[in-house]
Amino acid sequence: MDKMQDVIELLTEYNQLHIVNWLNKLDENKKRELIEQINHIDLHQIAELYDNAKKEIKFKENKIEPIEYLDKQKMDENTKTELSKIGEQIIENGQYAVVTMAGGQGSRLEHPGPKGTFKLDVYGKGKYLFEILAENLKEANKRYDVIIPWYIMTSKENNDATIEFLEKNNYFGYDKNSVIIFKQGELPLIDFEGKLLIGKDGKIKEASDGNGGVYTSLRTTGALADMKERGIKWIFIGGVDNVLLKMADTILLGMATQKNVQIASKSVVKANPHEKVGVFCKMNGHPKVIEYSELPEKMAEEVDNNGELKFGESHIMCNLFTIEAIEKISKEPLIYHSAKKKNTYLDENGNEIIPKEPNSYKFEAFIFDAFEFFDDIAILRGKREDDFAPVKNKEGVDSPRTAKELYEKFWNRNRE
Ligand code: UTP
Repeated sequence: MDKMQDVIELLTEYNQLHIVNWLNKLDENKKRELIEQINHIDLHQIAELYDNAKKEIKFKENKIEPIEYLDKQKMDENTKTELSKIGEQIIENGQYAVVTMAGGQGSRLEHPGPKGTFKLDVYGKGKYLFEILAENLKEANKRYDVIIPWYIMTSKENNDATIEFLEKNNYFGYDKNSVIIFKQGELPLIDFEGKLLIGKDGKIKEASDGNGGVYTSLRTTGALADMKERGIKWIFIGGVDNVLLKMADTILLGMATQKNVQIASKSVVKANPHEKVGVFCKMNGHPKVIEYSELPEKMAEEVDNNGELKFGESHIMCNLFTIEAIEKISKEPLIYHSAKKKNTYLDENGNEIIPKEPNSYKFEAFIFDAFEFFDDIAILRGKREDDFAPVKNKEGVDSPRTAKELYEKFWNRNRE
């Protein structure tokens, strides 16, 4: 009961009296579970995140400069072969692993279930997003005569459903011992008054802490230690929803090695100066992805001597790291961004409330916020038609319809 008293004091201090009232309505078992959960939540951090979310974002005076990149299309054949050879060697030596971030909520797509279980209507029969990724990796395994360890990041919310799906589909023929599933961290959701939400299970409602959560969770779940044991030196981290993602790009790998950098990334050029995507730049001397809303309009339109956008390299969630880089980042705190989202919850009487408008803040760390911990990054400009066909929205841009079209066009061009 002492524990109960401590928790009540804590909740009172942080203005969460509705949770105290809720606790008093629960049976002993549920009460114990909730107290246990509250003891794992950093209410001070949540209060700080709430304060920050309410503040208007003020852009600091920053020195923003264009970043260097290599354009794959403009590379001569000799360079391509030379870089590819370096990359191939690393993969053949078993020093390469891939991480798929599949812990997102996929709320825009509105697919009931983890996003990787969404079936894209391609070539009649259709393919699941996980299936497309597995095929891409299996092809690399065949080419380099290895089995690339495949780490899949899930969330607490979608972990069981993901495992069940992959088991049912026999991991799409991937060697099961080489698929390592790990869960990312969570943070509570709060309403616009800073109050914690109660979920359907009677507990405080939490959600995954953003794709930037990948670094810490790799370390805390033991996945990083597992990589070390396997002798991994390079780790590619990609999303679950780009059906043209190349999970083993030997040119990217060769370029990173040759440039002696700890991080490398593939970009595609912005579709137009005002496309709403984050672009690479150097900010105060460090690599950075700058949100479209933070890039002054004049800069967004600036072109270089070749008529190319100076800030045109979009970040497409296609990143490569040395294992040392992951280790370093996993110990540094990343900032959290807040997003307004629709989330169902229980009111104090236990009635489920389904909001029609965003009603809560979700806090997320972004994978690219770690780039500024380094002096340099190597960027390879790919090609939209070859490298980027995301499934984000239910309809319109970046939807299953656009991804299907790009996927089928790509494979019609590249079928052997
Ligand atoms: P997005 O930021 O596009 O989010 O994720 P999402 O969950 O797919 O979709 P919305 O915004 O709710 O509609 C980009 C990649 O990062 C992963 C996603 O699974 C996707 O592969 N991600 C995102 C995580 O793994 N964890 C997170 O907490 C957030």
